[in-house]
Amino acid sequence: MANQSNILTTSWLLHFLLGLSLLFARTGADVHYHNFVVQETPVKRLCKTHKVITVNGQLPGPTIEVREGDTLEIDVVNRARYNVTIHWHGVRQWRTAWADGPEFVTQCPIRPGGSYKYRFTIEGQVGTLWWHAHSSWLRATVYGALIIHPKENSSYPFTNPQREVPILLGEWWNANPIKVVRAATRTGAAPNISDALTINGQPGDFFNCSSEDTTTIPVKAGETNLLRFINAALNTEMFVAIANHKMTVVGVDASYTKPFTTSVLLLGPGQTTDVLVTTDQPAASYYIAARAYASTQGAPFDNTTTTAILEYDCGCSSPPGQAAQPFLPTLPAYNDTGAVTAFTTGLRSLSAVKIPEPVDENLFFTVGLGLFDCPKGKRCGGPNGTRFGASMNNISFVLPSSFSLLQAHQQGISGVFTTDFPAVPPVQFDYTAKNISRALWQPIAATKLYKLKFGSVVQVVLQGTNIFGAEHHPIHIHGYDFYILAEGFGNFNAKKDTAKFNLVDPPRRNTVGVPVNGWAVIRFVANNPGVWLVHCHLEVHITWGLAMAFLVENGLGELQSLEPPPADLPVC
Ligand code: C2O
Repeated sequence: MANQSNILTTSWLLHFLLGLSLLFARTGADVHYHNFVVQETPVKRLCKTHKVITVNGQLPGPTIEVREGDTLEIDVVNRARYNVTIHWHGVRQWRTAWADGPEFVTQCPIRPGGSYKYRFTIEGQVGTLWWHAHSSWLRATVYGALIIHPKENSSYPFTNPQREVPILLGEWWNANPIKVVRAATRTGAAPNISDALTINGQPGDFFNCSSEDTTTIPVKAGETNLLRFINAALNTEMFVAIANHKMTVVGVDASYTKPFTTSVLLLGPGQTTDVLVTTDQPAASYYIAARAYASTQGAPFDNTTTTAILEYDCGCSSPPGQAAQPFLPTLPAYNDTGAVTAFTTGLRSLSAVKIPEPVDENLFFTVGLGLFDCPKGKRCGGPNGTRFGASMNNISFVLPSSFSLLQAHQQGISGVFTTDFPAVPPVQFDYTAKNISRALWQPIAATKLYKLKFGSVVQVVLQGTNIFGAEHHPIHIHGYDFYILAEGFGNFNAKKDTAKFNLVDPPRRNTVGVPVNGWAVIRFVANNPGVWLVHCHLEVHITWGLAMAFLVENGLGELQSLEPPPADLPVC
């Protein structure tokens, strides 16, 4: 008897221990390993085959899926003939700035034939992010989705969707985008525009030789599905709508939002938007369509419309993709700034937010275009023989070439950058006036950083200017999410606009759309040491210098300090 009960106890104990270890295995974070081979790949679009740079031969590139708390180890091998780096757009990169990716900011490029392993953990973020090349204009074809699911044993704050579908908005270029930007940089003129907008790499039904490959999303009636929109385009902000279906926004930039129902979305390059769509319409096919929001008057833009198909299973026998002509949604006019404002001001954080305060750093940055005089003895292709430029607080950002900024900072190498980026505009003027004095049009080209103490509370007023022409700017900060406290048109006026701040449930993002000829106010805590690029995510604008960088100092002790650089960090 005694023996038997002993055996019983032992086996129960074993079961208990086994169960316990399984529990730990399941709640424990995973490490995901990926190989990214950057390579030239033949791709057929718009009736012709082109050689483009891809990751693993895929366009869009591979989707990465993790759970919050997981670690990624991505070995990037460069088999292309261009320098490359990969940026994990929106990932906080706690203490791992070395894995952030922007070329000459946190690393030197991976040379052809070289490789680098990006290693980082995703903490405190759930939803949709993405990855893209951060070197020249390679991200035209080098991009993919990065999906962060909730931790095991935790769930979405909304009905569990039947399907989850990443939808990447992009651009297709018949010309080699690297050549496009090189030509523009050589002449100082504006670069050419793309030839088609795309959804998951495909232009869709309204383009020649494309309809066979139009992205099709099969659904059944009565489902609620999660669509994860990502704007991966270089230079096109996009409106998105689905015929006969409303969308309920539940997240932006991997932060949850209060459910917000709308018939149109606006995504600037860099932004993501998660929406729930209920298939409550008659079984048929419906277009998901996207086209440009073009806020600048008179500037050329890609005015095409890209489509994908939301295809209900009709229970009939028509093979997929051959159903009747899908319904088409109405999209706002290209210049419908009202539709943009209605969308962005409808976004709120899911629950009440503890707003960081008091503010330690009260910053005011102008963002906008400019024109450089042509160097003596040269002919330039910009307006009136000038070169296009762009700036923040009149500084047009120049990347270093012999060291990355982070390396120079960490190793104390002088002469690579200075830390005198101005906290406020060097000259105050009527930023959004019709006729801004030409004397204010030419910025200063320099590599200036702004230093932040670890833990300081930072508020930045991003003020658009009307120099050369006002434009809506999607401003992205690397390594941080921030709260968007308010936005408006005209010049920011602290006296009257501070009262409009949402200090209850402002949305949290990594990329904020600064309204055309207007402003946005953001706030964050500088609690992640490193050098972090701040820039307009319209690639043409960062090319022209619409960028700066924050240098966030280490705090106290190891857990508040930047990790040492990985041994395989590429050098210049
Ligand atoms: Cu999407 Cu500098 O990045």
